[in-house]
Amino acid sequence: MKSELAAVILAAGQGTRMKSSLPKVLHRVGGLPMVLWSVNNAKALGAEPIVLVIGNGAEAVKETVGPEVLYAFQAERLGTAHAVMQARTLLEGKAKHVLVLYGDMPTLRRETLERLVSLHRERQPAVTMLSVESEDSMGFGRVVRDENGQVKAIVEEAVATPEILAIKELNCGVYCFDADWLWRRLPDVPLTQPKGEYYLTDMIGLAVEEGKRVEALTITDVSEVQGVNNRVHLARSERILRQRINEELMLSGITMIDPESTYIEATVKIGRDTIIYPNTVIQGNTTIGENCILGPNTLIRDAQIGDRCTILASVIEEATLEKEVHIGPFGHLRPGASLGKGVYMGNFGEVKNARLEAGVVMAHFGYIGDAEVGEKTNIGAGTVTCNYDGERKHRTIIGAKAFIGSGTMLVAPVRVGRGAKIGAGSVVTHDVPDGALVYGVPARNKGQHTEENKPDEEA
Ligand code: UD1
Ligand code: CA
Repeated sequence: MKSELAAVILAAGQGTRMKSSLPKVLHRVGGLPMVLWSVNNAKALGAEPIVLVIGNGAEAVKETVGPEVLYAFQAERLGTAHAVMQARTLLEGKAKHVLVLYGDMPTLRRETLERLVSLHRERQPAVTMLSVESEDSMGFGRVVRDENGQVKAIVEEAVATPEILAIKELNCGVYCFDADWLWRRLPDVPLTQPKGEYYLTDMIGLAVEEGKRVEALTITDVSEVQGVNNRVHLARSERILRQRINEELMLSGITMIDPESTYIEATVKIGRDTIIYPNTVIQGNTTIGENCILGPNTLIRDAQIGDRCTILASVIEEATLEKEVHIGPFGHLRPGASLGKGVYMGNFGEVKNARLEAGVVMAHFGYIGDAEVGEKTNIGAGTVTCNYDGERKHRTIIGAKAFIGSGTMLVAPVRVGRGAKIGAGSVVTHDVPDGALVYGVPARNKGQHTEENKPDEEA
């Protein structure tokens, strides 16, 4: 059974102008390796199969994109028609229509492709192409139409006459072909000099010659068809995607004080009435609740954040925050940090692989790692879980409503009981029972201190 639609994504170009050891289409933009924008669009349109034509850096591209697509290898870059030809054996007889996309055009909108494909389905021409009206030619091929307004040819800028150069309708390089016709006529594309390439654009002329219809969907938003050839283009595409993401979020009920300096990846979800201050970067698989206040100067990556949290000038990585948590300024939540409702963490706090139950207060600098801290426990300034003995990591367990005095060193593995109190400056090397008071170095109960090691009672 033939599928309705298959896709070929051209991504074999050298990308020399990126001046990079990473293949061009793997450079990240909008939070994704560039080529995934095209792959995801093809997937969203239900294209099956999807063939990625690769050349430069083929192995790395395969590794990143994975087995969701088929791969065709183009050994020599002999032009866009030659590139599509490499997908022929994988695609011939497999689909009714074939969509051709580039791997280096990440800003193309899914809705535009949907419109292109539906126009093609409705009118059933040999090919439906995407064109753009633009004052700036961007080096694109020109769309030549006849006196009835029918598309007649695409002429590459390099070989265009002055009259043709004046044409403002440009070829975007995106097409939907009738599959049988594509595979029948593709071999007829001639070799074009001086570049010695086979131009896919010649398929338009071939259709017209044969008396076949060519349709075009014309758009006016040039931001959609920006190719990426160098890092200036990369930054431009990043900005276009960022603007789009930010606008969508603002329209869904999020306030951005300065969208220009707010960097949110496409994968992020944010609840209504959250306010985002400048210089905030939110990445990866992150979900943020409603009515949060984020930033300024905050980085959040792969984190789950509940409603009404405030995060000021802090870094949150792979952490979970329940509702009403306050972090910052200058907090750092590292992987595996999990903070219960209403946890308050002030300046210079660091938490890693640790659970802080609801209402824990850690108002000042300190480090809690590989630990469990019970509800409403107060952690004094400068408290450190000494979790690493040079070889292995050990856990610290602190009960609910405990009071850990300032400057306490908790030498793990160690347990501090529920409601226990630890005097300031203690070094806790032994478990502390529920409700006990310990202090000193090493920390012990009042009765256990000798005259010599008895710490200052005021401590
Ligand atoms: C092409 C079109 C031009 C259009 C422009 C829009 C042709 C001949 N011209 O020009 O009309 O205005 O796109 O961007 O098609 N690629 C391969 N293998 C190759 C050659 C190219 O995979 O052998 C890939 C590139 O990696 C790139 C895409 O195809 O992703 C387009 O190639 P490029 O050389 O940039 O085409 P243009 O000269 O820009
Ligand atoms: Ca190009």
